[in-house]
Amino acid sequence: VPLVEWFLFHHVDSPEGSLVVAQSEVDVPFAIKRVYFLHSIPPTQVRGKHAHKALTQIAVAVKGSCSFHLDDGHDQADVKLDSPSRGIILHPNIWREMYDFTPDCVLLILASAHFDEADYIRDYEAFKHAARR
Ligand code: TYD
Repeated sequence: VPLVEWFLFHHVDSPEGSLVVAQSEVDVPFAIKRVYFLHSIPPTQVRGKHAHKALTQIAVAVKGSCSFHLDDGHDQADVKLDSPSRGIILHPNIWREMYDFTPDCVLLILASAHFDEADYIRDYEAFKHAARR
């Protein structure tokens, strides 16, 4: 899978304003089981610092902006999310760190599974070791 895969939300823009939509299993390539968002993140805070074993997610900054550092164990990339209709797909086994949150940033996440702490890889060395296989 590509390290960086953008996800362009369907959007309906008009003089009356903009509407952004994602339909589970129609444009989103998985069944959405969970939705959550981050907000009021201190600008110097780094979040994430984990990978997932099976979870797939889509992240989009619906307000403000933030950056993602992505690492598949071999390659690394940094991307900025600064559009409410352009997100990224976070595949399993991608280490992610989120940083440079603007004070107004609202980071929306669509997730393919319910919350499960056992799906997290929170130790970077363990992640690197698993990525080697
Ligand atoms: P975490 O996923 O580590 O946050 P981030 O990657 O944004 O830094 O989750 C932070 C805390 O919130 C952790 O204690 C687990 C809890 N949490 C839930 O209870 N449910 C959820 O759906 C998520 C994503 C986190």
